[in-house]
Amino acid sequence: MTVLKIYVAPHPVLKKKAEPVAKVTDKDRKLMDDMLETMYATDGIGLAAPQVGVSKRILVLDVEQKRDDDIPPQERRVKPLCFVNPEIIWESEDRRVYNEGCLSVPGQYAEVARPDKVRVKYLDYDGKEREIEADKLLATCLQHEMDHLDGILFVDHLSTLKRDIVMRKLKKYKKENEEEMAESHVLL
Ligand code: NI
Repeated sequence: MTVLKIYVAPHPVLKKKAEPVAKVTDKDRKLMDDMLETMYATDGIGLAAPQVGVSKRILVLDVEQKRDDDIPPQERRVKPLCFVNPEIIWESEDRRVYNEGCLSVPGQYAEVARPDKVRVKYLDYDGKEREIEADKLLATCLQHEMDHLDGILFVDHLSTLKRDIVMRKLKKYKKENEEEMAESHVLL
């Protein structure tokens, strides 16, 4: 397995609507394996294919993973889930507010309100049709990752004013961490 490069905003691949997967192939499974490894290695709880530069409707997540700093990435895996062509088929009226972050918007966080519960239909790692009812962090994470497949970042849910502030801070953050960010791709 390989740790992949994470694309950071503003990058065109993050703005593009990703293509549906016609049939889940070994190539897609390899991508999902690599995405999971990348996610654990970079301390993410979810990752969508466009974030590693692949414009396909694929995402992975593990909201139950062990996240202590002293736990090495390979031991974080608890309940990895892979979603291909996910679609929301029902959402609750109740909203849940969560302070979201994103591997493609490093160092930045903002509160986003989303439906508290969603039912999602998707294809799994083996290409089998499935349905899941998600709530709490799983629901938030799943919707955040599904947004990536439509070229939407969590900052796009903010007011223009708040988004501009976050994007300015991101620019500064990228500058300050340039060396570290370049290095991390080599080291991991
Ligand atoms: Ni994200």
